[in-house]
Amino acid sequence: MTVLAIEDLHVWFELPDGKELHAVQGIDLSLERGERLGLVGESGCGKTTAILAMMGLLPPTASAAGRILLDGEDILAGGDNTMRAHRWTDIAMVFQGAMNAFDPVKTIGSQIREPMQAAGLAKGKAARARTGELLELVGIAAERQDRYPHEFSGGMRQRAAIAMALACEPKVLLADEPTTALDVMVQAQILELLIRLTDELGLAMIMVTHDLPLVSQVCQRAAVMYAGRISEIGTTSELYHHPQHPYTRMLFRATPDLLAERDVISIPGSPPRLDQEIIGCPFRPRCDAAIDTCAIAYPPTRTAEPGHLSACFVEESA
Ligand SMILES: Nc1ncnc2c1ncn2[C@@H]1O[C@H](COP(=O)(O)OP(=O)(O)OP(=O)(O)O)[C@@H](O)[C@H]1O
Ligand SMILES: [Mg+2]
Repeated sequence: MTVLAIEDLHVWFELPDGKELHAVQGIDLSLERGERLGLVGESGCGKTTAILAMMGLLPPTASAAGRILLDGEDILAGGDNTMRAHRWTDIAMVFQGAMNAFDPVKTIGSQIREPMQAAGLAKGKAARARTGELLELVGIAAERQDRYPHEFSGGMRQRAAIAMALACEPKVLLADEPTTALDVMVQAQILELLIRLTDELGLAMIMVTHDLPLVSQVCQRAAVMYAGRISEIGTTSELYHHPQHPYTRMLFRATPDLLAERDVISIPGSPPRLDQEIIGCPFRPRCDAAIDTCAIAYPPTRTAEPGHLSACFVEESA
């Protein structure tokens, strides 16, 4: 059953100089109940912007177009009130850097209670009990709810941030770089936790990260983003064994992978600016397989296998 479907989503920012920055340039995604989907790409490719749009939390300088279907209902078309009605209760987010965003003068528990109180789901003793349950769910003793953020390690604060996102029992969790800045051991524990929660609760998750090998270990499917678009999408196994897009292939090679013994080869250059029109394939200047056609138009979507799509002119680039 599809819980979330994104169709032709565009997001653009109005810049102070009057220019527009087209951060998300028409993406399509779907998410099944209980599924884990990785949204991967280099810094600035539009990952956070795309998921903030799904939460209805874009800044006022941003505009969005397309469809965001939650259980079939277009919540983007519904506007602010519809977005607010579903935020946290149906679709929730762990923000990029969330573990460092707790208010230092409030207890962890009081901060976890905020979304459920705002949604009118629980108050008083019931809210305390629910906070304890949520902490236990993410592997923290219930009585620690009266502690302050500085009494928690980084990994525990990230667990608490996940607990907070789960407070209103959402169907969809958007996790933005949930393990960045954590050491490898703690990173593995947080990933195990996210796998367990999605399996046990039937929760669907979009995990945003720049680490493609890591997504292969956690998610069933991955979408690779480049310059505001999805350059390749498919099962993580397909992407790992049969990458179609040169960017996917180069991204795998550019990221250290503890499981694969190989050299790390970085991708030359950097992604294009998104406040200027891009003609042709945006990856062309960095691509080791580019042909003349790549300079002319954005590549059409090719289907390698059912559900495995890539936007590249070069056939069998793998
Ligand atoms: N509030 C904003 N105003 C103007 N431009 C913005 C704003 N937020 C993001 N952008 C621009 O939109 C593009 C996409 O940014 P976004 O933060 O979505 O990327 P990202 O893929 O999440 O990157 P990272 O991996 O660094 O978190 C970038 O060019 C960024 O500079
Ligand atoms: Mg981001």
